[in-house]
Order: sequence, then structure tokens, then C-alpha cells
Amino acid sequence: MIWEQFARPALFRVGGGDAERAHEWTLQRLAQLSGVPSALSILSGKYGTDNPVDVFGVRFPNPVGLAAGMDKNGVALAAWPALGFGFVEAGTVTALAQPGNEKPRVFRLRQSAAVINRMGFNNEGAAALAERLGQKLPVPLGISLGKSKVTPLEDAVEDYLTSLRLLKAHADYIAVNVSSPNTPGLRQLQGREHLSELLGALVKEADGLPVLVKIAPDLTDAAIGEALEVCADTGVAGIIATNTTLARDGLAPADLSTSEQVGGLSGRPLTRRAREVVSFVHRETDGNLPIIGVGGIMTPDDAARMFDAGAALIQLYTGFIYGGPALVRAAASVRR
Ligand code: FNR
Repeated sequence: MIWEQFARPALFRVGGGDAERAHEWTLQRLAQLSGVPSALSILSGKYGTDNPVDVFGVRFPNPVGLAAGMDKNGVALAAWPALGFGFVEAGTVTALAQPGNEKPRVFRLRQSAAVINRMGFNNEGAAALAERLGQKLPVPLGISLGKSKVTPLEDAVEDYLTSLRLLKAHADYIAVNVSSPNTPGLRQLQGREHLSELLGALVKEADGLPVLVKIAPDLTDAAIGEALEVCADTGVAGIIATNTTLARDGLAPADLSTSEQVGGLSGRPLTRRAREVVSFVHRETDGNLPIIGVGGIMTPDDAARMFDAGAALIQLYTGFIYGGPALVRAAASVRR
């Protein structure tokens, strides 16, 4: 209530209504907050949920995580657990620092409770993130790795390996992002041969650290099936489903012109498809491969249905923008 009535309208006005400036402003406030232990503990008391779950050998204090992309450079890591998150996925980072696409590159579709983004992995690079990761968090930390834009597809494996070597000592799991629509060619890495080479090399280098792969909602069942075979062959610890979609279904008429923006769509229009993918993966793997369900979880009921579809853990991004920390808390206790 407080979020919908006061905080969200105020935040949506920051930066003259520009979504990325509002995001940057919020992140800076959270980064400041990260340095104030007394404030963190007050917030934890209000939003923290103790509902532990063990997945791929890691203990999570509750099953609701912050999705990749929100805190790419890990500047506000201590704030997320205080807002109730049971784990945090930092990144996506790339081996080389890069500016991302030209601005504007994030658009709110308010009537549809959605966002379109084409950030393009703007980040300070894997080494900068590694330097920031001295302190241990009170919740597990996933680190999402992507391919640097200037690195050709045939050199992708070495690019991901460079990031992994810099970051593996700091992570509780690694997320291999081959599903962002905003780096040209990246989604081709989801194909059998590329994926097999990439995941084989990363699992070996990770040396026991769980490696998960994040897939797109736009894959066919056959393509997901192939990716699952590769996961089984290479010893991947789990699937993160899904990233943003290139589809433009389920939008309110007021958002149709904004929906022509190039990029990945997230939020309410993605709810059903993300859940379908989770359900498919769960069925195909007989429930034996842990799944992090993400995409269009906007209410506690969406969270419950994502768990019912087979997710062991869930993540929020757009739902957090529209629903704030109250959604984190509510979603964290729907599964007992
Ligand atoms: C994202 N997402 C994302 N995913 C990822 O693996 N690496 C990334 O860097 C980003 N960056 C990013 C930026 C912005 C502005 C948005 C809105 C999203 C995708 C995100 O983690 C998630 O998979 C999708 O947004 C679907 O979940 P929601 O947003 O519908 O809860």
C-alpha cells in the first residue's frame, strides 16, 4: 500500500520520469544505505523472512531472490537482504567494461505493469565487481556472466572464463547468461554446440561451484529440450527461466506505441510464458534439475503459481519495481 501510494509515484517522477535515471537514483540511495548497519538491521526486522530452503547444495534463508540486471556492478549488495531478499544475483558483468547501448534504453509500460529494456550489458567489468566483493553477504550471492560486446562469438568461451576466474571465489553460484536479447548474437549460444562447449568449460573451471544457465522465454520446446540435454551432459546445477521476451503480447492499448521500442519485455505480459517454461523444464527433467523461476511475478499469487509450476527458488525484477519490498516479503512466505 505504502509503496503503491507514495514511494512508487515519487520514484517514477525522479529524473523527469526517465526510468533509468530513477533506477540510478534509487541504486545510489541503496548504496548509501548499504554502509549504515543500524538502518539495515531495522529494515531486516521489517522485511526479512525466515523460510529456509536448500537448493543445489546452498542454503537460502528464503526462496525469493533479486534478479540479475538490477545491481549489475554490486554497488548496493548489503541493501537487498535488508529489503527481504533471500539471495541476490549481481551482474550481468562481462570480461571487459562496456557502456551498453545509447540512452534512452529503458521504458516503463505502466498500464501493462511492464518494462522494455535494451541496456546491452552496461557494466564496469568483472574485475571491478571482484574488487567490490570483499565482504560476505548474509544471503547467498549469484553472479551473472555475459559476453563482452566486442568479443566475437567464436571467442565467447574465453571471455566468460576470464570473468569466472576473477569472480568465482566470491560467488555461491554462477549464472551463465546466454539469453539477453540486447547483445547481438548472444542468444545463439543457447544452441547445442555452442552451449555444450561453453558450459563444459565453465563447469570445469568452476570446480564444484554451482553453474546455472539462464534461458530465454522465446525458445521452442525442442530448443529447450536440447539445452536440457546439454545441461545433463555438462553437469549444470540448475536452470534460470526466464530472461525477457521479444514478444509483444498482452499489452494495454495505452502502451502500444512504447511497445515498438526495441528490447526485451518483462513484467505482467511475461507471467504466463515464464511459468510455462518452468513447468516444461520441470516435467522434462522429472523435477531433478533445480529451477529458479523468474518472469512476471507481480503478486504473491504469481509467486505461489511459479512454485507450483516447479520452481525451487524465484526471482523478482519488474515486480519489485511495481510492488516494492512488500511483495518480496509476501512472496517469501507463500511456500512453506
Ligand atoms: C533485466 N534482466 C537481466 N537479466 C540478466 O540475466 N542480466 C541482466 O543484466 C539483465 N538486465 C536487465 C535490465 C532490466 C532493466 C530489466 C527490466 C531486466 C532480466 C531480468 O533479470 C528478468 O529475467 C526479467 O526481467 C524477467 O523478470 P521480471 O522482470 O518480469 O520479474
